[in-house]
Amino acid sequence: MSQQSSFFGHPIGLRTLFLTEMWERMSYYGMRGIMVLFMTAGLTGSNPGLTFSAVEANAIYGAYIGLVYFMVVPGGWLADNIFGYQKAVLLGAIIIAIGHYTLAIPFEQTFFLGLLFVILGTGLLKGNISAIVGKMYDNNDSMRDAGYTIFYMSINIGSVLGFLICGWLGENIGWHWGFGAAGIGMTFGVYQFVKYRHLLGSAGAEPNEMDPDRRKRLLSYFYVAVGIIAIAVLLALLGVFDIDPVIFASSYAYFLVIVAGLYFLYLFLLAGLDPSEKKNLLLLFFLFIGAAAFWSGFDQSGGSLTIFARDFTDLNLFGFELPISWMNLANPIFVVIFAPVFAGIWTNLAIRNLDPSLPMKFAIGLLFMCLSFILMVYAVNAAMQYGQVGIQWLLITYLLHTWGELALSPIGLSAFSRYAPKKYAGQMFGLWFTASAIGGVLAGLLGGEATGEGLESMTPIFSFMIKYYLVIGVILALLSFVIKPAEKESAN
Ligand code: PHE
Repeated sequence: MSQQSSFFGHPIGLRTLFLTEMWERMSYYGMRGIMVLFMTAGLTGSNPGLTFSAVEANAIYGAYIGLVYFMVVPGGWLADNIFGYQKAVLLGAIIIAIGHYTLAIPFEQTFFLGLLFVILGTGLLKGNISAIVGKMYDNNDSMRDAGYTIFYMSINIGSVLGFLICGWLGENIGWHWGFGAAGIGMTFGVYQFVKYRHLLGSAGAEPNEMDPDRRKRLLSYFYVAVGIIAIAVLLALLGVFDIDPVIFASSYAYFLVIVAGLYFLYLFLLAGLDPSEKKNLLLLFFLFIGAAAFWSGFDQSGGSLTIFARDFTDLNLFGFELPISWMNLANPIFVVIFAPVFAGIWTNLAIRNLDPSLPMKFAIGLLFMCLSFILMVYAVNAAMQYGQVGIQWLLITYLLHTWGELALSPIGLSAFSRYAPKKYAGQMFGLWFTASAIGGVLAGLLGGEATGEGLESMTPIFSFMIKYYLVIGVILALLSFVIKPAEKESAN
């Protein structure tokens, strides 16, 4: 039985989640590492791809990330009301694998169809698997936090594998081999989830209690929604409407901002919250802005920074030509190295009562992001002068991104569950991922502008980002003196 064995002192079910998430992230980041390269590869050369401009490819990349993370919201709803979390994860994993296999078929239509499957599948998997992690601990907060730390490792080990395998295959053998490898990785994830799902016990096994008729009705709405999406996709693939990637991505960015804004407004004005809940909500609102801004820089990795690696970085290392997408390895490797260091620093400061407040940690995260783009401006200048620069520029940039991530990301999710108004705790997961979604689309739009005209267009965009990080970072730092979360914690 599950009680007898454990996983690093945690419930053995955590191993199932660890491995599923590891393979899912392997496939996600592996594909993401090469997608912009593939879209801009052109038709000629030894490894032909698609013919999108850098601006268009970045917009598609950003819209893709934005859709992936926003789909966590309906994915959570489906888990709560229809499938239960475990089934949602399984279904999601299967759909993701189908998506990557579809990407492996070398047509432009199958590329977009594959992306769509990955988007829908990740919506079912990513948020729900993170939620099951929490459900395995009954109200033991420190164990649960440690569980999430282990889980965060699986994310990064998975992305190391993905960049290594899909990046190498995609760039050296053929893009579609890279996509196919992502499919095989996700298939390992499906296999072990099916085999070891029983270790999860009842954590997230059943959806909410509901009158069967109501559930049937909800299920029929779901089928209608799937039908509408299928028809729209079919028409798009047949070329019935022409979609401009940049217009699509920017409209989608507005859509996300409006939806998130309205949701906050609704909570603030109409949800009947008491003053301390409202105060916490205000705090979350500012953290939300900070997180969206942060990811909009962070996700430049697969977009503008990958193009910078391809065109302006000397990737020759001791006679070995590194795959371009391998530059992305820096982030997950640094996470594995520095996560314990950051955890140690926070604990040490906490012992002395100096632990920075939430908004202050977010401000620190944004400051690192700001520094990374200051560095990139220097890198761009050096590239203008010498044609190419060494890999150290991108390595240090990613080191700063990672330090920022470690200051902001691990605590962000727990802050959202902790300070959420009680009745709305479940939806806060969705809100946290929506911040990533907004960040992703903005990353694509900004990255497109940055790479539109080669090096010339990078400096103005990166300089703009430096300013915006500085402004938002300073505002959050100042806020940390003004808004202190009202210590009234929600149910979990
Ligand atoms: N590396 C993290 C992951 O893939 C980045 C992330 C954080 C993504 C928060 C979404 C939300 O999970």
